[in-house]
Amino acid sequence: MTLFDLHHQTALITGASSGLGEQFARCLSRAGARVILAARSLEKLETLSQELKNAFPLQMDVADKVSIQRAVELLEERGERIDICINAAGIYGGTPIFGKEDEIDFEAQLETNVLGTWYLIQAVAQQMKQHEIGGSIINISSVNGADYLHPGRAGYCASKSAIIQLTKALVGELGDAGIRINCIVPGLVRTPATEYKLQTEEQRRELKRLIPLHFIAEPSDLDGTLLYLASNKASPYVTGSIITVDGGISWGGAR
Ligand SMILES: NC(=O)c1ccc[n+]([C@@H]2O[C@H](COP(=O)([O-])OP(=O)(O)OC[C@H]3O[C@@H](n4cnc5c(N)ncnc54)[C@H](OP(=O)(O)O)[C@@H]3O)[C@@H](O)[C@H]2O)c1
Repeated sequence: MTLFDLHHQTALITGASSGLGEQFARCLSRAGARVILAARSLEKLETLSQELKNAFPLQMDVADKVSIQRAVELLEERGERIDICINAAGIYGGTPIFGKEDEIDFEAQLETNVLGTWYLIQAVAQQMKQHEIGGSIINISSVNGADYLHPGRAGYCASKSAIIQLTKALVGELGDAGIRINCIVPGLVRTPATEYKLQTEEQRRELKRLIPLHFIAEPSDLDGTLLYLASNKASPYVTGSIITVDGGISWGGAR
């Protein structure tokens, strides 16, 4: 299918060592893209890069601006050109207003989820502009950053909400450079990060009851949305779009 053919394209994917980011890397690699796999756990990235065609593991801590700058400089030195950038690295921790915050507290979630996304967009967009690449940037928010808020998660909700506004706020400046930026808003997807919610049959039954489409998504259920936004041929006129992929929980979950 030529609309979704990503041969001769290079995609940088953060969070590629686990869950959604790992599946995004598999999906883009299958579509023909060269994939640059970024996260902190180099060993996991190396294992995945051996499995995928045309992959390169890149250690990067998105909460550290210097780490991002070094990583993007390394890519530049190696002659890598980023056409597609997926910001999937993210962390979650409970931040109850009256109780004790998790170790992954409010600040940590803002640093990784918001600043990390901002730092990488800054670095990659500059590279895209310099090389006149009409690239595609895809941010990963959450229903908790949009229409499905959750008590005890103010830090996560605020961080994921910021990603949506960041996406919209950058449309004009990036558009001047021919770069598209969009955002996927996932609902519940089975990954190592959400496994704790899905351990018992009772937990799974209750979640399926709440989700209007009555199933819990697998990471590959986001493949179509990802490919659509990644491909300049499939979505040449799409920028600033916030696409919810949540089985309907944002609108039907309150029954
Ligand atoms: N699963 C869901 O239901 C769901 C729903 C909505 C939104 N999301 C969003 O989707 C994204 C992926 O979530 P997931 O469920 O796949 O979680 P996950 O399995 O825990 O994966 C998180 C990924 O982020 C990377 N990461 C965390 N901190 C990092 C840092 N400072 N620098 C670089 N990489 C870092 C981790 O790699 P290292 O630890 O190796 O660095 C890992 O690869 C997150 O942004 C999450 O908020 C998930």
